Amino acid sequence: MPATLVLGMQFGDEGKGKVVDFLASKADIVVRFNGGNNAGHTVVVAGKTYKFHLIPSGAVQDKLCCLASGVAVNPKVLLEEIKMLQREGKEVRLIVDARAQIIMPYHILLDGAKEASANKKIGTTKRGIGPCYADRAARTGIRFAEFVDLERFKERLKAVLLFKQKELSAYGINCPSEEEILKEYENACRKLRQYLGDVSLVVRDALKEGRQVLLEGAQGFFLDNDFGTYPYVTSSHPTTGGALTGIGIAHNALDRAIGVAKAYCTRVGSGPFVTELAGELADTIREKGKEYGTTTGRPRRIGWLDLVMLRTASRINGIDELAITKLDVLSGIEKLKICYAYKLDGKELKEVPADTALVERCKPIYKEFEGFELPAELKKLGDLPAQAREYLKFIETELNVPIKIISYGPGRKDTLLID
Ligand code: GDP
Ligand code: IMO
Ligand code: MG
Repeated sequence: MPATLVLGMQFGDEGKGKVVDFLASKADIVVRFNGGNNAGHTVVVAGKTYKFHLIPSGAVQDKLCCLASGVAVNPKVLLEEIKMLQREGKEVRLIVDARAQIIMPYHILLDGAKEASANKKIGTTKRGIGPCYADRAARTGIRFAEFVDLERFKERLKAVLLFKQKELSAYGINCPSEEEILKEYENACRKLRQYLGDVSLVVRDALKEGRQVLLEGAQGFFLDNDFGTYPYVTSSHPTTGGALTGIGIAHNALDRAIGVAKAYCTRVGSGPFVTELAGELADTIREKGKEYGTTTGRPRRIGWLDLVMLRTASRINGIDELAITKLDVLSGIEKLKICYAYKLDGKELKEVPADTALVERCKPIYKEFEGFELPAELKKLGDLPAQAREYLKFIETELNVPIKIISYGPGRKDTLLID
């Protein structure tokens, strides 16, 4: 039984947490494969809200949850999240891959220092993500298996601190000492030891036994370190390729890739945003959609749905099905627009240019749609007003990918599954 992959197709915050929770009832295992606590995934069930930064959203339904090798783990945040779930009476079944990287206090300091001194700020979440993945590539990272073995952790720390002290002093910042770091992380080191495992093998065995595996992407395709709007991106790979390398599974382990997109578009942080809106309409959508970052509380930038982005994301990730979220937020807006192509130097483009400087110069070409009022509950596609169906049909036709999930509210119940 191959795995189902859930990916964000825009700039993150598409509602992946909600979609994963919705699909998790049929899953045995839910796996996060990229990013760290830069992510914020919100799940609302029967009026109760859960906010996850690391643990996959499948935890709400007591599923076996895995943090795979591609994840950057802040051990203190992970411990807090485990405690939060335990307080909620959840049975925490968790495996953290031995290869997952640890976010260290100096990563967080470096992230902040780099942002503070940059001319063009990326607008990172300042959670130490970039410096942590940079250390992985530079082979100066500390992995989960090393971290939970106190003697090995001390040894690695000693070696790595030599570099980190130099790096931080360039910004006039003192690096925390070995003792300070040990004091801060020792408790997590002891408490997290029990979760050490090999997620690559756990997933392989589960698939062999015919169990359902759900893979939860963090961030969104246009924040991908290679294919996003570089340098305004994150440092991991929220892609189909990223799921394979971030877990350690082969291409044929995947059954279907579900691309999640809002019915409009948002972005938090800097970088090009071709369909961005300003003024009253943006404010209306922001307030109605509660478009403030789950992790940092920053107001999200708002824009119309951009099918050029979704076309590129769909192609590179091999998206089989779409989940369109937050349709309710557009309800009551008189006229709606969808961008289906870009204009650049007199030419019409159907895909996002590879060069970010070109993306910055693209202008949107829109098709206009009549607005709609959604009913409080949707049981079947026919319950949608004709104008809403027309809006959704245009997305399917342009992308040649069927919409299988329509989300029209934050709650698990506000979801329409289309057969
Ligand atoms: P993620 O990072 O992709 O998991 O998305 P976030 O959880 O950061 O942001 C999505 C926000 O929209 C959360 O607050 C969700 O509770 C909420 N949400 C998800 N789907 C819907 C929807 O269909 N309608 C409305 N109104 N809110 C939704
Ligand atoms: P979820 O999983 C939205 C953005 C940051 C910044 C850029 C780099 O909730 O969709 P980083 O801290 O990763 O180095 O910041 O990426 N960003 C997100 N935006 N949702 C996220 O995650 C994000 N994770 C990172 O705002 O622009
Ligand atoms: Mg989010």
